[in-house]
Amino acid sequence: MSQLNKYKRFTITSALPYANGPLHIGHLAGAYIPGDIFVRYLRLKKKDVVYVCGSDEHGAAITIKAKKEGTTPQAIIDKYHEQIKDSFEQFGIAFDIYHRTSSPIHHELSQEFFLNLYEKDEFIEKVSEQYYDEDFNQFLADRYIIGTCPNCHNENAYGDQCEKCGTSLSPTDLINPVSTLSGKPPVLKLTKHWYLPLDKYQPWLEQWIDTKEGSWKVNVFGQCKSWLKQGLQPRSMTRDLDWGIDVPLADAKGKKLYVWMDAPIGYISATKQWAIDHNKDWKLYWKKQADEQDNACLIHFIGKDNIVFHCITFPSILHAHGEYILPQNVPANEFLNLEGDKLSTSRNHAVWLHEYLEELPNKQDELRYVLTSILPETSDSEFTWKDYQARINNELVAILGNFVNRVMILMHKFYEGKVEAETDRIELTDAALKAELGGYYDEIEKNLEAYRYRQALQAVMDVARLGNRYLTEKEPWKTIKTDPEGAKQALHNCLVLIGHLATCAQPFLPATAKKIIGMLNWPNEVIPYDQEIYFNNGHQLNPSALLFEKIEDEVIERQLQKLQAKKEAAAPKSADVLPAKENINYETFTTMDIRTGIILTAEKIAKTKKLLKLTIDTGIDERTIVSGIAEYYEPEAIVGQKVSVLVNLEPREIKGILSQGMILMAEDSQGKLSFVAPVDDFHNGSVIR
Ligand code: MF3
Ligand code: ZN
Repeated sequence: MSQLNKYKRFTITSALPYANGPLHIGHLAGAYIPGDIFVRYLRLKKKDVVYVCGSDEHGAAITIKAKKEGTTPQAIIDKYHEQIKDSFEQFGIAFDIYHRTSSPIHHELSQEFFLNLYEKDEFIEKVSEQYYDEDFNQFLADRYIIGTCPNCHNENAYGDQCEKCGTSLSPTDLINPVSTLSGKPPVLKLTKHWYLPLDKYQPWLEQWIDTKEGSWKVNVFGQCKSWLKQGLQPRSMTRDLDWGIDVPLADAKGKKLYVWMDAPIGYISATKQWAIDHNKDWKLYWKKQADEQDNACLIHFIGKDNIVFHCITFPSILHAHGEYILPQNVPANEFLNLEGDKLSTSRNHAVWLHEYLEELPNKQDELRYVLTSILPETSDSEFTWKDYQARINNELVAILGNFVNRVMILMHKFYEGKVEAETDRIELTDAALKAELGGYYDEIEKNLEAYRYRQALQAVMDVARLGNRYLTEKEPWKTIKTDPEGAKQALHNCLVLIGHLATCAQPFLPATAKKIIGMLNWPNEVIPYDQEIYFNNGHQLNPSALLFEKIEDEVIERQLQKLQAKKEAAAPKSADVLPAKENINYETFTTMDIRTGIILTAEKIAKTKKLLKLTIDTGIDERTIVSGIAEYYEPEAIVGQKVSVLVNLEPREIKGILSQGMILMAEDSQGKLSFVAPVDDFHNGSVIR
């Protein structure tokens, strides 16, 4: 606990997931497995820790989803809050509380924060032009506007952020903005908002962030520096929205707090609720203490798309408020990819946790293991099902499971599971084993404290490898006949080693560690990190069970097929169909006079690309119609073609030619055209209705 030892208390947060959809493996790998490992480790070190999280239930992410599912934001958050909470529980993410930002305690605290800053005159009040959708009569929240990122030219950047390059944006920064509601370019309209003067905080931020050089991850520190270098702009903390926390001001009717103002405060309100539930003092975990030495250590676990909000915006809010501690670290992860492609909710390219739990039951630690092995700690990484299978079969089964299993079986076979010796205590007697084990402990702790979980987990597996090597070398199954005392001692050494293995596996593989601790018949459910591991003479072991099963090829094949099927289902089809128009009544329909006809002559209209001048026999008359089909049909080829004609369309002059009606054409999503006409032989002028 080199760095961390000086802290009495820890406040650990993982990003509040939007309650607008289920969780996938990318979420786990980004902010939750790392946070959980760290917290479990701190607890095993007997630290005073609170680990908080909850659902982020405001913002356009929620309203957009509600619109999509044709339901209310409340129904959306209720549904996904429960589902997300359940997934976290099942994967053993050990929050002290999983709260929600729709709770009254959170609304109150967020408004209190806003008013605190307001009364200190921190906000800049500004009337400005904001994007407005005229079809939908509403101002557009950042997420309702997409356009081209001015920084990296990603065409699908949102109004508040480009998810490709991570840059924080304002809607007016976007090139070619489009409303996601109407699909049209929005217009600008005046509205009043309250801005956090990030430019004013910039000197303070610079100096604060500079103190983090070397302790923060390079990617996080580098991002912050580069934003600071670009220069910070005031950022609006309010929005014109109908879902969210009311701005607590008389002249802010209908305005809500910006979701990125309220969500991080959710960490604090969650802690408050937890404190109420457990009779604790939340202020100890969030507020500056009289003696700086008593301040809690605040650490935010997040994905890289959240860096700006946790390293710039939220600290600025905390700083402006003045009473709160600031994050000691923000160990953000990069992104996890899946089978060579970005994880994507919209394309349904994901491994969803609720589906995994159903299809691969009781394999939570297996997924935790694989994801921890490939965490995108310093750069993006990739999950593949083949790799999942290989890591489980070649590592969990063949190394960890195998070692524990062999030792337990031999202990039961030779001694009926009784740990008996001449001494009172059975402990590690092999000095070389002890020394090597000590090295792995150091390695594990050093890496855990530096947020390098991949390496920490490798060191845990090295303990199991050490056990296997030792067992193979000692061969107690052979020496039991020639040197029974030596065989016993070797197995006892292995057993103590299993106790250590369980100890250091706990943060990573909590369910597995618990199983091992159970098989050892250890007196407690958890083994603290500094626990001396030994067995009392005569200790009875519990029956052993396999820790892991081999994953068969079929299982992997099925998952790959499923992924492929999902992808195909979500991919845009050539038969993409426009949504239906609004209903009309029958009368409206009957006003259209559509007749069968035939093309008598066709010629290109000079100086146009698309237009043909047609003469049509409509049965009623012969008339001229200008039609925009020249790019698809040669004039000569369509003479004699049967057609359908809207004959009572008001005549229009096009390129100096009076066009009397319209030829009906079918058009697919690729813009391909086809004539629409009776399939049987019909005389011209027949009615189509
Ligand atoms: N809901 C946000 C996301 O999924 C994260 C919010 S983190 C918090 O990107 F700090 F605001 F809580
Ligand atoms: Zn970008």
